[in-house]
Amino acid sequence: MGKYDIRIERVKNSKIDEFDSSNLKFGKMLSEHMFVADYTDGKWQDARIIPYGNFEISPANSAIHYGQSIFEGMKAFKNDRGEILLFRPDMNAARFNRSAERMCMAQLPEDLFIEAIQELLRVDKNWIPDAPGSSMYIRPFMFATDSALGVKPSETYRFMVINSPSGPYYAEPVRVKIETDYTRAASGGTGAAKTAGNYAASLFPAQKAKQDGFDQIIWTDGATHTFIEEAGTMNIMFVIDGVLRTCPLTSTILPGVTRDSVLKYAAHKGMEINEAPIKVDELIAAIENKSLTEAFGVGTAVTVSHIKEISYKGKNHNLPPIESRPVANDIHNFLEKVKRGQIEDELGWITKFQ
Ligand code: COI
Repeated sequence: MGKYDIRIERVKNSKIDEFDSSNLKFGKMLSEHMFVADYTDGKWQDARIIPYGNFEISPANSAIHYGQSIFEGMKAFKNDRGEILLFRPDMNAARFNRSAERMCMAQLPEDLFIEAIQELLRVDKNWIPDAPGSSMYIRPFMFATDSALGVKPSETYRFMVINSPSGPYYAEPVRVKIETDYTRAASGGTGAAKTAGNYAASLFPAQKAKQDGFDQIIWTDGATHTFIEEAGTMNIMFVIDGVLRTCPLTSTILPGVTRDSVLKYAAHKGMEINEAPIKVDELIAAIENKSLTEAFGVGTAVTVSHIKEISYKGKNHNLPPIESRPVANDIHNFLEKVKRGQIEDELGWITKFQ
């Protein structure tokens, strides 16, 4: 038993026998249980794992009206000894609290965040898929629960964890468009917090890009639209002249756990890294003069997603063939294998439990 006294109420009739882990989509199926804890009277109370299901919410709920809502994305795997593996959960716990601080929400003890996830995974262990490319996608989240229409921070919150046996986010390399009209995040705004509104703001431009045949947008800075920022579901990286490039962490960039892990792994391998701002013109010139050899997105959901085509101001630029991209292919291979316990955890990133 852990430090927190988590009450467990299991489903009466498990549907695990009907679970088919082949051909899973991303985020469509949910496992049978969920974790819930409520913040009232200044403390977290009533930590519980209960059957997955709907709950009632006040029409005056302040998260619905004013958007105090944050989340994380993580993945769990099982190794061949049946142990459950989590990748750097402390990073997600810490980022969750940074998001909470920016959104003026209650802090959550990091050990409660991790214990909730571990206990829920233990209860729904048989729902962790093992088909190649699949994972248990974990979605911890917190939202305001005050029922009040005045604009002010809520005094009460709910923290929950739900799990989704999932297939890959993008099955194929992606086509992206560099966005120069719409803005994801402004300097000093909420771009570095993993909060619902950032994703809401991205939907309309992303939908327009989809209608034009693109999978994703690469955001540029809100002030000048001349510097690369990140993509809708991932941070973005390039290999130019053999150097691994990504933009620096500012108030407009989500500090990705995968971003951090890729940079640390690449440094560990002796690769040169540059986190200076990247001008769009510089990027396009590097594509044209062929000094850009790789472009890829990195994130928990996507792991590493190759970019096959970048469009800028109506012109499409094809990027080098995927097979000729040693950096991203090696990083992807390393991260996938270490997360699944198939190679040595040389950087000490895996939390393992029964
Ligand atoms: C993740 O990579 O886990 C994310 O949260 C990105 C997206 C699926 C919302």
